Amino acid sequence: MLSGVPVATQPADLVGDLPGDFTARVTDLLDRVEQRLAVAAEADTDFVTEAAQHIIHAGGKRFRPLLVVLASLLAAEPDEEAVVRAALVMELTHVASLYHDDVMDEAQLRRGAPSANQRWDNTVAILVGDFLFSRASSIVATLGTDYVTLQANTFARLVQGQIAETRGPKPGADLLEHYLEVLADKTGSLIAASAIFGGMVAGVGEQELRALDAYGEEIGMVFQLSDDILDIASDSSGKTPGTDLRAGVPTLPTLLARRSTDPADARLLALLDADLSADADLAEALRLMRAHPAMTEAREEIRRRAEVARAHLAPLPDGPAKTALAALCDGVISRSA
Ligand code: IPE
Ligand code: IPE
Ligand code: MG
Ligand code: MG
Repeated sequence: MLSGVPVATQPADLVGDLPGDFTARVTDLLDRVEQRLAVAAEADTDFVTEAAQHIIHAGGKRFRPLLVVLASLLAAEPDEEAVVRAALVMELTHVASLYHDDVMDEAQLRRGAPSANQRWDNTVAILVGDFLFSRASSIVATLGTDYVTLQANTFARLVQGQIAETRGPKPGADLLEHYLEVLADKTGSLIAASAIFGGMVAGVGEQELRALDAYGEEIGMVFQLSDDILDIASDSSGKTPGTDLRAGVPTLPTLLARRSTDPADARLLALLDADLSADADLAEALRLMRAHPAMTEAREEIRRRAEVARAHLAPLPDGPAKTALAALCDGVISRSA
């Protein structure tokens, strides 16, 4: 394994302290997901196996599997094989989208390791992404038509979010509104589907599934908004700081900063519209953004949304799973606090 972001199979990293037996169950299920991920990435040739396992082995928070597992434990005795498969489907779909995303974003680093497009080339990264997606498809087929339909619709939303981000807003459209729609589609969709998958395995009712959907969408937004902050604020996220900034991808802090009419922000606003391919320009833009009040405003918005996510959990039955899902709202914020 390359030195990177550690695999977060310890749920306490994101959900804090929970009853020991519950935590042990979550950890055991996530460990099983971990082993099966490597197997799912095995291909007919050593090269494809290596390229497909590359980003899986590099690390990652396994946030989507965690959500599947936590939501599945709303039932006392969920079918554990189904839980593992549902979690695998979500992580494989996610990882496939990361291979493609790094091509689109020309990213060099993913999970602390060289991205596949950097280590090999764009063609390999695209095809390996497709390969992993096909693995997700064959696993979801074993779960049933409802799961296949949700995964297919979710992937369609994710891809359309990515396309909408690339195309940018229509002339005259509100930039922030467009951006939030993009986030809901490219990130909220898969995170909501993860919560729903868990609920489906648990066999919860319609009302609970709707609650998990609404919670997942909102915590997905919180998650991606936190990620946007980390792009600017963190030197240790496992990704190159300022990747979105350099690629001109709008993020909540930059969109808020753009609204400034303060003459002191003139240099920053010029940089946000400039070509930041020179390292010195990117470093200056990062320095100015880090000190800007838009960062505080963005963090406040994230906290507000985390509370909305928590409130959506109300219809769920009380117990350690619900407590853990609520604690996740704090865990996700603390990444970028
Ligand atoms: C990265 O997702 C892309 C986003 C949708 C923000 P994660 O932040 O879940 O990435 P890993 O899986 O931990 O690497
Ligand atoms: C992640 O989007 C890709 C998907 C959600 C499909 P970003 O481009 O914003 O995420 P990072 O920063 O590369 O992980
Ligand atoms: Mg990216
Ligand atoms: Mg992207």
